[in-house]
Amino acid sequence: MILVAGSANMDFVVRAAHIPSPGETVLGRDFKTYPGGKGANQAVAAARAGGVPTHMLLALGADAHAEPLEASLREALVKLHLVRVPDQTTGCAFICVSDDAENAITVAPGANLSLQPRHLPPLVGFSHLMLQLETPLATVTAYAQAARRQGVTVVLNPAPAQALPAPLLEAVDILIVNEGELAALAGHQGSIAQCLERIHVPTVVVTLGHHGCCARSHGVFFLQEAFDVTPVDTTGAGDTFCGSLVAALHLGADIPLALRMASAAGALACTRPGAQSSIPQAAEVTAFLAQQPPPNPARITALRYLCGLTGPASPR
Ligand code: RIB
Repeated sequence: MILVAGSANMDFVVRAAHIPSPGETVLGRDFKTYPGGKGANQAVAAARAGGVPTHMLLALGADAHAEPLEASLREALVKLHLVRVPDQTTGCAFICVSDDAENAITVAPGANLSLQPRHLPPLVGFSHLMLQLETPLATVTAYAQAARRQGVTVVLNPAPAQALPAPLLEAVDILIVNEGELAALAGHQGSIAQCLERIHVPTVVVTLGHHGCCARSHGVFFLQEAFDVTPVDTTGAGDTFCGSLVAALHLGADIPLALRMASAAGALACTRPGAQSSIPQAAEVTAFLAQQPPPNPARITALRYLCGLTGPASPR
């Protein structure tokens, strides 16, 4: 079983030609709300990957936004450990999605900040604990340490990026970062390989957008080229990647296969609007993978250069 402990937000999304610069007002177009939040998105992604009992620990306020967030998780068959916070608003995210499918997100965390160390349920039966950084850092650290003590694999997606206390990183088994988060954690602007040298977590996965992703697991590097899709909205694609990756590992996939599954799920998520609304079911991922061409050696070589890898080729 997988336990996700983290945020749930109602996403308020407006589409516009471009994302406003500081001080700029942009006249947008259609407006919609979608269930989101990095934690909840990752839980839905793990559950939709199929065959993985997924639980989520979350905190919601007592307002109108709580019910649709709860419903979306339950519909995905995520079992909830729900903390009700009557005097707080449910987490909200204000998102502008541009015509080139990029986004800018501001989160009002509200009830998410009420998750406390004492809320962690017993970890018996859980193989993986997934964490992000939209809940208090002290709570995330306490959860990671409790899981580490009990032999549960700790997966951290340190988003939104912020400085991490050493005791948190020491308790993490699998770190999933994008390039910006990697550089922030490493405190270094060099190549991905150089940044990875500064991070002493057993497995680090780095997502590289339309280039693909790479992983260093117990000293071995793996590369996965991106799948070509026409993006509509990239919101939640990273969370889809995280949830799908952990689900695949839980089901016994090795790192190369888990990267492939997660990349396919993330690519599909980019082709649909919204966060949880965009996360594919396992059968869709399988069908998508069946249509893909064989790996392209030229793109893998380009990815190797991008990562600053000069050593022997990775297994895949
Ligand atoms: O990663 C995407 C998510 O970030 C959105 O769903 C939003 O709620 C914010 O948490």
